[in-house]
Amino acid sequence: MRTQVGIVGAGPAGLMLSHLLHSAGIESVVVENRSRRYVEERVRAGVLEQGTVDLMREIGVGEGLQREGLIHHGLELRFSRRGHRIDLSGLTGGSTITIYGQNRVIKDLTDAQLAAGGQIFFEAEDVSVHGFDGTKPTVRFRLDNTLNELECDFIAGCDGYHGICRPSVPPAAFTEYDRVYPFGWLGILADVAPSSEELIYVRHERGFALHSMRSPRITRLYLQVAPDEDINNWPDEKIWAELQRRFETEGGFRLKEGPILQKAVTGMRSFVVEPMQHGTLFLAGDAAHIVPPTGAKGLNLAIADVRVLARALAEFYSSGSRRMLERYSEICLRRVWKVQRFSWWMTSMLHIFDDDNPFDRRRQLAELDYVTSSRVASQSLAENYVGLPMDWGA
Ligand code: FAD
Ligand code: DHB
Repeated sequence: MRTQVGIVGAGPAGLMLSHLLHSAGIESVVVENRSRRYVEERVRAGVLEQGTVDLMREIGVGEGLQREGLIHHGLELRFSRRGHRIDLSGLTGGSTITIYGQNRVIKDLTDAQLAAGGQIFFEAEDVSVHGFDGTKPTVRFRLDNTLNELECDFIAGCDGYHGICRPSVPPAAFTEYDRVYPFGWLGILADVAPSSEELIYVRHERGFALHSMRSPRITRLYLQVAPDEDINNWPDEKIWAELQRRFETEGGFRLKEGPILQKAVTGMRSFVVEPMQHGTLFLAGDAAHIVPPTGAKGLNLAIADVRVLARALAEFYSSGSRRMLERYSEICLRRVWKVQRFSWWMTSMLHIFDDDNPFDRRRQLAELDYVTSSRVASQSLAENYVGLPMDWGA
């Protein structure tokens, strides 16, 4: 088997890359180790930046978004039992965010890809990458007990944090930057209408909480918990009781409750590998970096990486120039570090750290007071939240 770009992983990064390459007349094949159903049902992120939404529309996969995406013009920061609205559109000259589940993005991209005759191999086993140091990059995998070898010009490692591409590179070629947070998020999906029209990020003495949604009938909620928290310690009644306490306001706010459809605990970390390329292997998305979810950046950052990669590959195939490909990592990392900073900052501002002393707690409240009362400070939050402009490294 032969293609121009071998893509490992059918997450947002891999599927979007394949789609962008197809639009530029470049062939690719996607190899994914999970089933199509598993990938399409995995509940993860839900907030799309303005730029991600515009891109999906531009490349013709915006129909579902148009029909079901919920456009939000603002969000609420809640602390000391009071809510403060950040007017995202007003502070950014009209930009918005759109609520649309990651699994829907995956489904729309997969459907478009297969309809256009694109190749995605799901349930591939023993996936491995070879030859990216030299001139013969290959992706090997087993399908129905048959060994397949995909020869290509380039390999895109879009296989997430636990994938095989990054560990296939000799460790000495990379520098890793890492920070693990002393808490995780317990996330639930509930069969009940959202309790507010907008997202609510809460800083409460008992810990962070977040109100989000997936549709006018489905609510998504998160609670800060211990990083190794056993989900079995959290019967539904306990989850609702804790959520109600953290969301309470002076005005008597109550969350609407309903049956919990899904619940899980996720750990939180910041991670970056530098550079994001080695020979003809290019890492994109979670394979190269992880952000803590406060700020909803992981999915959007993955999309920004592959936009740069697709453009660099298009430049190579149209002119033979490797100029942009060689600068891929440098271009991406400028955005990656700014997004790392923002995600770390939102996380530190809104979570309770067990080793914080009373001074730290007061400083944290002062920071929230400043962000919600200064136009300049809220504008900075808004600018980052709706998504920084693309940097093409010109
Ligand atoms: P992924 O989505 O991880 O896709 C990688 C793909 O590669 C997967 O389909 C995987 O099955 C496949 N793969 C892995 N190993 C192999 C292999 N050996 N061979 C072939 N294929 C392989 N972000 C937010 O902004 N908000 C959230 O609420 C949020 N919640 C999250 C919850 C969880 C549990 C996780 C793990 C992440 C969450 N994120 C969240 C982050 C966001 O979902 C990711 O940043 C985003 O999925 C990155 O896309 P990606 O394509 O780079 O990686
Ligand atoms: C969601 C997730 C986030 O990490 C976030 O900051 C906002 C919303 C969500 O799943 O809807």
